[in-house]
Amino acid sequence: MVAPSRHPDAPQLPRRLIIGITGATGAIYGVRLLQLLREMPGIETHLLISDAGVLNLHQELDMRRKQVETLAHVVHNVRDVGAAIASGSFQSDGMIIAPCSMKTLASVANGLSDNLIARAADVVLKERRRLVLMVRETPFNLAHLRNMTSVTEMGGIIFPPLPGFYHRPQNISEMIDHTLGRVLDLFAFQHALTPRWAGLKADQS
Ligand SMILES: Cc1cc2nc3c(=O)[nH]c(=O)nc-3n(C[C@H](O)[C@H](O)[C@H](O)COP(=O)(O)O)c2cc1C
Repeated sequence: MVAPSRHPDAPQLPRRLIIGITGATGAIYGVRLLQLLREMPGIETHLLISDAGVLNLHQELDMRRKQVETLAHVVHNVRDVGAAIASGSFQSDGMIIAPCSMKTLASVANGLSDNLIARAADVVLKERRRLVLMVRETPFNLAHLRNMTSVTEMGGIIFPPLPGFYHRPQNISEMIDHTLGRVLDLFAFQHALTPRWAGLKADQS
């Protein structure tokens, strides 16, 4: 990721991050991500929730669209393809889609820009900024795998939310935070969500 250069005397601008929540299972990843970013100073979040994302927020977390939107600094309508984030002139650090459905993956992989989530991701890719797709489906068919390859070839990062167990998570929250900590690492955001791996314990017998 190339950070935009700024004159040292220029006023500190917030780091901007676009967050998309789509209709794959795992709405908690998007919500928890927004909560974490809200606590970090100097970060401005721009949120997009697809219609299927709204369904899953209600199904999985009993949350309404408005509740989730209060966690973001700026909210965009997925149909508003004329929004600021639809243009490469909008400066941002990049975009995270959490969770990312196979439908949105397909749209991004093929440059369809058929809603503002796909358009914003398209812009992030064309401007060579960081795009992280927390894709979720199981098992994968060949179209899913090919689309993930295409996005990777374009510079995007495919980041399925697959938990690790080596840090011995005690509950689901720890699993989620560990995964999101690794996502935030990709943007060099400072956090203390998980201890850093310090190597295997000495006694393996
Ligand atoms: C409860 C529920 C769970 C779903 N889980 C997934 C999933 O894990 N992965 C996926 O690709 N689609 C999943 N879907 C289907 C998507 O929501 C559907 O393909 C939708 O059109 C995606 O649109 P979007 O990408 O604009 O949000 C799920 C749908 C529902 C209702």
